[in-house]
Amino acid sequence: MNPTNQVISAKARIGSMPSAAAVFVGFAVLMILGTAACGGPEREIRKTLSESEREVFDRGQRLSTPCWSCHDLYGQQNKVGPYLAGLYGRAAGSAQYPGYSKAIQESGVIWDEGTLRSFLVDPAGFIPGTTMAASGPRGGSDVRALVFYLKHVTSNTVARQN
Ligand code: HEC
Repeated sequence: MNPTNQVISAKARIGSMPSAAAVFVGFAVLMILGTAACGGPEREIRKTLSESEREVFDRGQRLSTPCWSCHDLYGQQNKVGPYLAGLYGRAAGSAQYPGYSKAIQESGVIWDEGTLRSFLVDPAGFIPGTTMAASGPRGGSDVRALVFYLKHVTSNTVARQN
């Protein structure tokens, strides 16, 4: 190898270093973002679950994505629909949300696994007159996974507030 070639290959090595550093930094940022996305209360809840329950929980979380446009799961912010924090175990229509239909407020429903499943599969079929037009999964294991997820995240919020 002549000296000129050595200089060139040394430059090439130095030249490739910043990009390696950039890839590393990029990767680190992704890791941090990834951790933040599945962090918070959900990470704590997942720790308490068995391996098979975690699969159901994660599936329920994915299925809940369309709900977030209208509902806040953790905070107490009203969107198009009422916040769902503290939902599990409380009476239907009992959040601090001014937009409830009379139908849901007078339904006498208490949110548990059975009532949530029935409501999410067919809101107006279960509570005629409700203004929630969107429905969740059609039924079967998807709706069970969604309700499993809601049960854990929304009862956890109550526990954290008290
Ligand atoms: C397009 C907006 C919209 C979407 C999407 C939506 N909802 Fe709703 N939801 C509402 C509205 C509005 C109400 C209030 C209904 C009423 O007053 O009759 C409501 C009410 C509820 C209630 C009763 C809350 C209470 O305080 O009693 C639950 C539970 C609920 N939604 C769960 C869900 C879930 C789970 C999803 C996703 C599968 C979802 N919603 C998707 C608008 C929406």
